[in-house]
Amino acid sequence: MKVNFKDILWMPVDIPKFDRCQELIDDFNVDFNGSIKNSDYDVRGQLFLKKSENHSIAKPKDGLTSSQLAVMEYCKKHLPFTDLINFKIHHIENRGMKMHYDFSPKNNNFSPPPELWNHVLDHEPMGFRMVVHGAKSGDIGIETSNGEVVIPVMPEDTDWYSISHSGTLHGTPPHVVNLEDRYVLFVNGWVNTEQHKELINRSLDKYSDFIVKK
Ligand SMILES: [Fe+2]
Repeated sequence: MKVNFKDILWMPVDIPKFDRCQELIDDFNVDFNGSIKNSDYDVRGQLFLKKSENHSIAKPKDGLTSSQLAVMEYCKKHLPFTDLINFKIHHIENRGMKMHYDFSPKNNNFSPPPELWNHVLDHEPMGFRMVVHGAKSGDIGIETSNGEVVIPVMPEDTDWYSISHSGTLHGTPPHVVNLEDRYVLFVNGWVNTEQHKELINRSLDKYSDFIVKK
């Protein structure tokens, strides 16, 4: 099946499972709390990288735990990123997250460097996410271009999906209340074009039945 990358809103990604997810949860610490700022957005986050300005490349924090270092190594091995801008775990529960774009001019105070914005547009889908804990399917909804919310199904053999970082409207589906303990690993940065293309094509071949398109 030939799929135009630009039409993909959500797709599973062919990456072997990380086997220390429980340790990541045990080591979880809250670095920021989105639910204080906005009651519609119930998320706590843990940042793995040092603070940097305006979407610049950042280095891992000092003092990361063994499981945190291991998941960074694992991502380096399996994902196409050459440099990291953000690497974090979100803990989402209760009210969930309203529909939103992760990286978009539609968001408030959005002003990435133009080179980064163009890089993201050129490499969608590059919003790589891993379900660390929680329901693999059912707790995320994707809004398609006709306004319908589709609930994607994750295959059993992977915990990874990719969305369009700049163009996929997603959030907790309206019928889901009291979301339970959803932990999602979120990676963003600069990718190697060839490695990205290879990973997306391999995943499209393997999971063509699961893809959500525009
Ligand atoms: Fe998101």
